[in-house]
Amino acid sequence: MSGTSLDGIDAALVRFGAKGLGCLATHYRPYPDDLRQEALDLHRSGPDELRRAALLANRLAGEYAAAVTTLLAEAAVAADAVKAVACHGQTIRHAPADGYTLQLNNPALLAELTGITVIADFRSRDVAAGGQGAPLVPAFHDDVFRHRSRHRVVLNLGGIANVTDLAPGQPTRGFDCGPGNMLLDAWSRRHLGQPYDAGGAWAAGGKVLPDLLGRLLAHPFLASPPPKSCGREQFDLAWLEGCLAGHEAPADVQATLVLLTARSVAQAVGRWCGRPEELFACGGGAHNKFLLATLAAELPQLRMAKTEDLGMPADWVEAAAFAWLGRRTLLGLPGNLPAVTGARGARILGAIYRA
Ligand SMILES: Nc1ncnc2c1ncn2[C@@H]1O[C@H](COP(=O)(O)OP(=O)(O)O)[C@@H](O)[C@H]1O
Ligand SMILES: [Mg+2]
Repeated sequence: MSGTSLDGIDAALVRFGAKGLGCLATHYRPYPDDLRQEALDLHRSGPDELRRAALLANRLAGEYAAAVTTLLAEAAVAADAVKAVACHGQTIRHAPADGYTLQLNNPALLAELTGITVIADFRSRDVAAGGQGAPLVPAFHDDVFRHRSRHRVVLNLGGIANVTDLAPGQPTRGFDCGPGNMLLDAWSRRHLGQPYDAGGAWAAGGKVLPDLLGRLLAHPFLASPPPKSCGREQFDLAWLEGCLAGHEAPADVQATLVLLTARSVAQAVGRWCGRPEELFACGGGAHNKFLLATLAAELPQLRMAKTEDLGMPADWVEAAAFAWLGRRTLLGLPGNLPAVTGARGARILGAIYRA
């Protein structure tokens, strides 16, 4: 898995057995800075972009292959013991309203480099069926995190934040709720020269700017009802800059961005998830202590924890989810939830590149 944060690749080795799934090993491979920058640049039109996108796709396949090879070496597992690699690719455009979503990858090359069957391009079939193509993780959350009598919400804090609503006796629902870490990271890179604000320590020293918060929370995506999904198209640094008066102290902006994420999640949960009893956070943002504390203050009626408490480390939930989705594809089973994405029906997701 490589998500909108553009931080790198989360690789998980997952076994599916009679007793459910087990995560055997994990490996994280950060993106080189220049790769990250090129992926970021390709979010907008630019000179020679088709060629640059093709070359970046090849380079990504090389990075994915290296992540797989290292993961298997560390786990002492041979490539021929692996059924398939499920690879999300790197989103550079997400425009379901225009009928497309684009994850850069070269799955054919990845199959050549690893000698393992590759499953890729998970989102486009759902979009073709009229859906958002996102979020796709709720079906997995439903399978592994649902409780028979407790109303649970799972919150994935990636670059974008998305929620899965697991209400007992109800179909699983879910949606992107808005920015997760994306703006926090961008602001931290600019002012701290750090890829992220570790633990939210910098934000914790700032004070919230109510006017700025009001302008940020007025983004129409936040109030629009599900099904919905978003990306850098909606919440990028240019949008943030347009909301600034220009004289704000950088730490105060960071504090305000933390509250933007927390409040937009809290409002979305309040509007569209009924009255859940507990929330389990996952994704890299679950390491941001200040963000979680701010969120807890916004949702005082909820018990908050991380997916660790449900047996799955926060960093590996999304990677394991794509292994789960890839398995569905191999078995010829649908992977999307039409109630989540808005697609016309359940669909088998992705394309298979045989070893
Ligand atoms: N110690 C930490 N403190 C604060 N934020 C963190 C920490 N570790 C990771 N993160 C955040 O998590 C992000 C990566 O999360 P991830 O789940 O991989 O998101 P995505 O799926 O969008 O790639 C980083 O970019 C950063 O914002
Ligand atoms: Mg990531």
